[in-house]
Amino acid sequence: MTSAIRSTSNDNIVWHTHKIDKAHRAKQKKQQPGVLWFTGLSGAGKSTIAGALEHRLAEMGYHTYLLDGDNVRHGLCQDLGFSTEDRRENIRRIGEVAKLMADAGLIVLSAFISPHRHERRLVRDMLPAGEFLEVFVDTPLDECERRDPKGLYKKARAGEIKQFTGIDSEYEQPLNAEIHLSAGHCDVEQLVDQCIDALRARNII
Ligand code: ADX
Repeated sequence: MTSAIRSTSNDNIVWHTHKIDKAHRAKQKKQQPGVLWFTGLSGAGKSTIAGALEHRLAEMGYHTYLLDGDNVRHGLCQDLGFSTEDRRENIRRIGEVAKLMADAGLIVLSAFISPHRHERRLVRDMLPAGEFLEVFVDTPLDECERRDPKGLYKKARAGEIKQFTGIDSEYEQPLNAEIHLSAGHCDVEQLVDQCIDALRARNII
């Protein structure tokens, strides 16, 4: 399904600044807001690693929210497919939601293929410097295809799914991700440790 990017004229809409702001909400939660943006192929392990990291952060007392591609496509983005245009709109919406959640003072984890550098850059630019951490879940295509947890690669190879990322739709690897996870054969908890270290190094936790 294809959808146009919705744009509105902002001439008659005025931004209202409220008394309770982001700094207040973050202070109340005793944490620094941030967005960890997991990107990688389908089956790379984005949701699994983000889920394990969220679990670890919750145990440490942090306030988090995990935005997951497959889940969001059941609701907020259920009208979108996998054309370049729809993926762009998908990521734009998630970016805006992640920004709102960071504004609420949360540490946001998002797990979307987000195959294009341009869209990932768009989300990065929505947030204050240092608040967006790109996490490249670097699992080779042949390993993702071997795992094939949802049987989608098989369908894509058989031509039953079109525009499947890595098969007949491109994935642009991050060039300067803040966190690079070699996720092909690594233990999930080790990858979580790597994320925790990166969050500490940036004073988010
Ligand atoms: S994105 O490209 O717009 O960022 P998103 O992360 O929301 O994708 O959704 C990806 C999930 O949708 C995959 O993990 C897979 O389960 C499912 N899916 C269904 N069709 C496709 C497709 N053509 N390409 C990639 N993933 C697909």
